[in-house]
Amino acid sequence: MNFTHTLSDSKNWIINHKDQLEINWSEKDIELHLNKETSFNIYLLDQTNVKGALIGHFLYQDQKVSEFEILHIAVLPEFRNQGLGRMILEELEKQLKSTGKSFKIFLEASAINKFAIKLYEKLGYKAYNERKNYYRSKSINAPNTQDAILFAKSLNAIK
Ligand SMILES: CC(C)(COP(=O)(O)OP(=O)(O)OC[C@H]1O[C@@H](n2cnc3c(N)ncnc32)[C@H](O)[C@@H]1OP(=O)(O)O)[C@@H](O)C(=O)NCCC(=O)NCCS
Repeated sequence: MNFTHTLSDSKNWIINHKDQLEINWSEKDIELHLNKETSFNIYLLDQTNVKGALIGHFLYQDQKVSEFEILHIAVLPEFRNQGLGRMILEELEKQLKSTGKSFKIFLEASAINKFAIKLYEKLGYKAYNERKNYYRSKSINAPNTQDAILFAKSLNAIK
């Protein structure tokens, strides 16, 4: 298993896998994100097949600290529940730690996204806030609105 920050055509890979990644961004949003200087993304691949991705960006950085936001993380459906989501998050932490800075990672999840929440909690992310009725669902099988839960994790630099 390998990690990479870019694919030969990251934009089209994301667009072509939007449904499997469960990402509801427009093509324009994806392009804007990938072109931002603060954008930082990790793709997990096995030889040439991409199995999952983390899409994120730096919110703030100075010489000692960095703040990072995970905008989306997804594993393609056929590879879920095999530890790959955890692997991608651990890789992000490893890469952020290697800078020698203290860092804080933020993310938000829908309160009904049980697997994602379980994954974040197992890795030590703590819920610090919630936004009531934040997401509007298009599905007839789900409640019309869903709460968002905000998570964060801090790691201190080794002195
Ligand atoms: C959330 C997501 C990235 C998790 O990726 P994953 O590779 O399936 O996760 P992992 O296999 O690393 O599982 C991590 C933990 O989550 C739980 N989990 C994940 N899938 C599960 C399933 N189908 N059944 C039961 N538990 C599950 C387990 O507790 C697991 O920990 P364990 O192996 O120690 O028991 C994946 O479900 C996904 O892509 N979902 C769609 C996109 C999405 O909702 N992203 C989150 C946006 S906030």
